[in-house]
Amino acid sequence: MRRVLVTGATSTVGGHVVDGLRDREGVAVRAASRDPAAVGAGVERVRFDFTDPATYRAAFADVDAVFLVRPPAISRVRRDLVPALSAAVGAGVERVVFLSVLGAERNPVVPHTRIESWLAEAPLETTFLRASFFLQNLATVHREEIRRGELFVPAGDGETSFVDVRDVAAVGVECLDGGPTGALDLTGPEALDYGTVCRRLSAVLGREVEYANPSLARFLVRRLRTDRDPARVAVMAGIYTTARLGLAGRVTDDVRRVLGRDPLDVETFARDYREVWA
Ligand SMILES: NC(=O)c1ccc[n+]([C@@H]2O[C@H](COP(=O)([O-])OP(=O)(O)OC[C@H]3O[C@@H](n4cnc5c(N)ncnc54)[C@H](OP(=O)(O)O)[C@@H]3O)[C@@H](O)[C@H]2O)c1
Repeated sequence: MRRVLVTGATSTVGGHVVDGLRDREGVAVRAASRDPAAVGAGVERVRFDFTDPATYRAAFADVDAVFLVRPPAISRVRRDLVPALSAAVGAGVERVVFLSVLGAERNPVVPHTRIESWLAEAPLETTFLRASFFLQNLATVHREEIRRGELFVPAGDGETSFVDVRDVAAVGVECLDGGPTGALDLTGPEALDYGTVCRRLSAVLGREVEYANPSLARFLVRRLRTDRDPARVAVMAGIYTTARLGLAGRVTDDVRRVLGRDPLDVETFARDYREVWA
């Protein structure tokens, strides 16, 4: 029996990874969270905190592979993440599948780059899932404004190769269970500007969702009024500016290559999540 530890088991992608692994023959899943009760029942759960070494031993015992989610609040990689990764290596973990970000290989600003570098030097088999912007952000970060009938992001006419986290998780499950190592660039089937995304959302939801297309300054003023975490707003500003500059639209074939089917598209996502904006 191969045992997989899923960090970030309560995260957007991690929850789907736990579900996907549960159905696998010959795989035992251990779901990690700072609050194990927050993980759904029917799976082995363990308390795990990257910043609390006392939690490492139970989490990594008898584990063959780790799904690694870097918490958005952790950016000091050497101080807050590497100790846990070292403990994983010491405990005999052989493979790490890391949820990274599209373009990490040429963007030294994001913490994912430093995590990839550390993993590449470690005695591990590694897969880097370099994922594009999640469609699910529209159902979480932008849920309330879409409910009100608008999408307020400063991305201009730039295109983004939105990916559905269910595809990212499905690829992760394959990689944790003997699938490819190396770097995979995970995108949706096409690059779309936000105006097109809004038109497609509107068509599926049967009501108007308008793309507000604010300037960066207007976005910052509005967002900082409601979001108490300036660091998160700064990250969002960076992401939408990248899109605005036309740097977020690269489409790849990696999801299809691993899963043997097309990636999920924005219409499918909107149909499956429509209740979220009801
Ligand atoms: N959003 C996107 O479009 C996108 C695209 C590509 C890549 N990514 C990357 O994906 C990663 C996850 O982002 P997300 O938005 O999906 O995250 P998320 O849903 O906010 O989940 C964060 C997870 O981190 C866990 N966590 C927080 N602090 C922790 C700690 N000290 N020790 C252990 N676990 C901790 C949380 O678990 P508990 O609270 O249960 O402990 C939670 O499961 C990030 O690195 C992000 O950059 C995001």
